[in-house]
Amino acid sequence: MESQKSIAVITGASSGIGLEFAEQLDSHPGIDEIWLCARRKDRLENLARKLRKVAKVIAGDVTDPLWQNKLRQELKTNNVKIHTLINSAGMGKKGTVEEIGCENNAYMIDLNCRALTVVCSICIPFMAVGGRILNLSSVAAFLPQPKFAVYAATKSYVLSYSRALHRELKSKQITVTAVCPNPMETEFFQHTGKPQEISSIKRIGLEQVEKVATKALRRSERKKDISLQSLSAKFVRIVSRILPHPFIMWIEEKIGL
Ligand SMILES: NC(=O)c1ccc[n+]([C@@H]2O[C@H](COP(=O)([O-])OP(=O)(O)OC[C@H]3O[C@@H](n4cnc5c(N)ncnc54)[C@H](OP(=O)(O)O)[C@@H]3O)[C@@H](O)[C@H]2O)c1
Repeated sequence: MESQKSIAVITGASSGIGLEFAEQLDSHPGIDEIWLCARRKDRLENLARKLRKVAKVIAGDVTDPLWQNKLRQELKTNNVKIHTLINSAGMGKKGTVEEIGCENNAYMIDLNCRALTVVCSICIPFMAVGGRILNLSSVAAFLPQPKFAVYAATKSYVLSYSRALHRELKSKQITVTAVCPNPMETEFFQHTGKPQEISSIKRIGLEQVEKVATKALRRSERKKDISLQSLSAKFVRIVSRILPHPFIMWIEEKIGL
């Protein structure tokens, strides 16, 4: 009988930090195969060719129930255990809630919250003992952000959900880590609707995907439920716990965040 394969499942693997995670996990001795998920199939196939490990492409929209079913079936029909699940598929639209509009706001929630939660639910029964889940939250999770309101709220959801799930899955020895980066220069900003707008204040804290991914994998290995890369992200988290949020939002407005 064929032995059970240890796999990594990565959503959002066609660009940005998801792609970086795929490259870093390519040298992980505990992983036999990497499953790459995103809509742009050609990108995933290119990446699959570059990786040294066997890579499986499961292209599609993670919000689509048909794609979700496909993932479930692939897990059921292949003899696999998930060593690492990374939920990186996500996007954020900038502007006021009214400017962004009903459909885009709902889509952000569907993608950043609903699909991430569904993917976790599909994968948990297949997780290896000692396995790990990394969910991409953001430093935006710590504070309400006018003109980025829905995005920041979705990332608060990811943070809260991941930390609670971490507790729930402790008895199964599965670690869940919420990864909370500062802005990173990825394709993310091409989809915000305001690509020119990484404000100068945010540029100060700009992080490199490589470092964020390395730190996040290290934190999850140490069974931590949160990963913050930079000092400025840690500072924002502390400030968000001390100062009243209306005051912080007033400052955000003044400095043009
Ligand atoms: N960049 C930042 O400043 C920053 C900061 C904090 C947190 N984050 C979070 O980090 C995560 C990754 O973002 P990134 O910076 O790496 O941005 P990115 O380069 O734009 O990557 C986003 C990834 O998500 C995939 N994706 C988007 N919509 C999808 C859908 N409906 N179905 C399947 N896949 C979908 C994209 O692939 P396809 O287009 O091929 O589907 C892409 O692979 C996101 O959750 C984001 O919120 C980003």
